[in-house]
This record gives sequence, C-alpha cells and structure tokens, in this order.
Amino acid sequence: MERELYELSRPVFFIGFMGAGKTSVARRLARTCGIASVDMDTYLERREGKRVKDIFAEVGEEGFRAIETDVLAELAGKDDPLLVSCGGGVVCVEENRAILAERGLVVFLRVSADEAASRISDKSTRPLFQDLEAARRRNEERTPLYEGVADIIVDTAGRSVPAIAREVESLLEKEGVLCRRQK
Ligand code: S3P
Repeated sequence: MERELYELSRPVFFIGFMGAGKTSVARRLARTCGIASVDMDTYLERREGKRVKDIFAEVGEEGFRAIETDVLAELAGKDDPLLVSCGGGVVCVEENRAILAERGLVVFLRVSADEAASRISDKSTRPLFQDLEAARRRNEERTPLYEGVADIIVDTAGRSVPAIAREVESLLEKEGVLCRRQK
C-alpha cells in the first residue's frame, strides 16, 4: 500500500514548560508523518560538545540563553523546514519570541508543574527544575509568554503522547502547514 507522507510549509516549534512532552510529541509526529524532527537541547549539546547542565554550571542561565538564541536562529533558517522541540525557557528572550513568531508555526503544549514533575524521571538534567514550588512559579510567570507567541494551544493533562500528536497533526493540516505528498 502506498504510504502517505507529509511535508512542512514552514518550521513547527513546540514550546511549553519542561515535561510538557515537546520532544516526545515532535518525535512521534516525525515518525508518523515521515518528517525530520530535532530537539534544540540535543542539537545544542552536540554543537557545543557539552551537556546543558554543564553549560549552566559554567556560564549560568544568561550564557546558556545566548547559545540557545544562536541555535534557534540556525534551526529556523534550515532549507527544509523541521519539527523543532524547543527548550522550555526559549520564550524568556524577546529575540527568540520574534524568531518563533516570524519564522514558524508555534505549538504550545500546556502542562502544570505538578504533572510535569511526575513525568520527568531525571531532574538532574534540568538545572531549572530542582524545586517544585519554584517550578510552579516559573511556569506561571512563563504562561503569558507561551500563550502570547502560540498559534496553537494543546492541553496535555492526563493525555498520552500519541493522542496529543494526533491532535497536533490534524491542527497542523488545518493550518495548511502540514501538507500531504504522494511518494
Ligand atoms: C529549560 C528547559 C530545558 C533546557 C534547560 C532550560 C528551561 O529544556 O533548555 O534546562 O528554562 O525551562 P526542556 O524544556 O526540554 O526540558
């Protein structure tokens, strides 16, 4: 049987708090639609040859954010548009918000800090998710930024990755960003 494959008309950026499922949903969609996906933190770690937590330890959050902006601009400018799962703090920088809004379609995966905490198995890799009370505050502060830049908002509470990916897929098709092609 002929498999239906898709292509993107522009990059799709997944944003949301740590533990929202950005990477898992982007990966799932990539598999089912035959499109490439990239995780910003993984890409950044390969590019820098260092783990995110070590970058935080060496140059702090500000230093990390500068590298992150560079990586975002690089990924947004690729010739073949990608599914990009962004780091949870990408919206904290104005320049990043401008890149997201101008260059792609932005999907905000909403999650509470409490649910995120139960999803993240290894918090040692997340320097900004050490304490639940602080994570709740951080998520609350960021929510207007996530909402402000989002084209699509999807609630993830209590839902599986495949279910979220299916919803995102049909919304992206409706937006005309995910287009069928025959192969
Ligand atoms: C961060 C989220 C992390 C990573 C870094 C900072 C944040 O990415 O970029 O630890 O500020 O929320 P994930 O959202 O993929 O965990």
